[in-house]
Amino acid sequence: MSPDPRPRTVLDLPKWKAEGHRLVMLTCYDAAFARLLAEEVDILLVGDSLNQVIAGQETTLSATLDQMIYHSAAVRRGAPGALLFVDLPFLTYQVTVAEAIRNAGRVLQETGADGVKLEGGQVMAETVRALVDRGIPVMGHLGLTPQSVHALGGYRVQGRSPAAADRLVDDARALEEAGACATVLELLPTEVARRVTAALRIPTIGIGAGIGCDGQVLVLHDMLGLNEGFAPKFLKHYAELGASVRAAVRDYAGEVRAGRYPGPEHSFE
Ligand code: KIV
Repeated sequence: MSPDPRPRTVLDLPKWKAEGHRLVMLTCYDAAFARLLAEEVDILLVGDSLNQVIAGQETTLSATLDQMIYHSAAVRRGAPGALLFVDLPFLTYQVTVAEAIRNAGRVLQETGADGVKLEGGQVMAETVRALVDRGIPVMGHLGLTPQSVHALGGYRVQGRSPAAADRLVDDARALEEAGACATVLELLPTEVARRVTAALRIPTIGIGAGIGCDGQVLVLHDMLGLNEGFAPKFLKHYAELGASVRAAVRDYAGEVRAGRYPGPEHSFE
């Protein structure tokens, strides 16, 4: 193993899987967190979940390309060397292949990202092939695809029937054959995600899809405990920053009101 065993380019991702490494991905939406995360994770993802986490919307559906580009450029400035993927938002890649190329091209040109992520399997294969053939690396996203939340009847576990599980394997193979370099698997039974993973040479990155994937991704604010009302079964809090922020702001407000801040050590003579 090399002294700094991290995937550095999209070409490293299948190699990474073949060597049996597990991939670590987190979402990231700004430069400050990008600087911190890049020290530890393999891939930063500017997910369209930013529309919920940062913009306070109910779903990802109203995220715009300009919004994604603004946040992704900030993440790139914070983490110049990180492997960076950016979600293509709803309706920026599904209407025509030409629009998908134009929009994904803008993401790479204007943010310095390494690739884009898009949702869907066989139905998106032609688009994935067109992007990859034009030098735009693509990560897929299967299972619970949040841009289809209405069609799926909510945020629920996918692939529960044998037919649905078979379809997922076919979708994943179609993405791989079209040139995708990895795929996210969201909200799947562990055994289904394991089966999809075994069927592919490219890595799978799971969220709510169990331990059988080649890597894992979580939404940053969720795993840091900053999104306190959100508690799906798959989520683990690695910190309770919501409580820390509340305590810090309470201390600050108390000291300002009591005339204790700023003290002499914070003041200019
Ligand atoms: O938008 C997002 O954050 C995502 C991850 C949950 C994979 O797609």
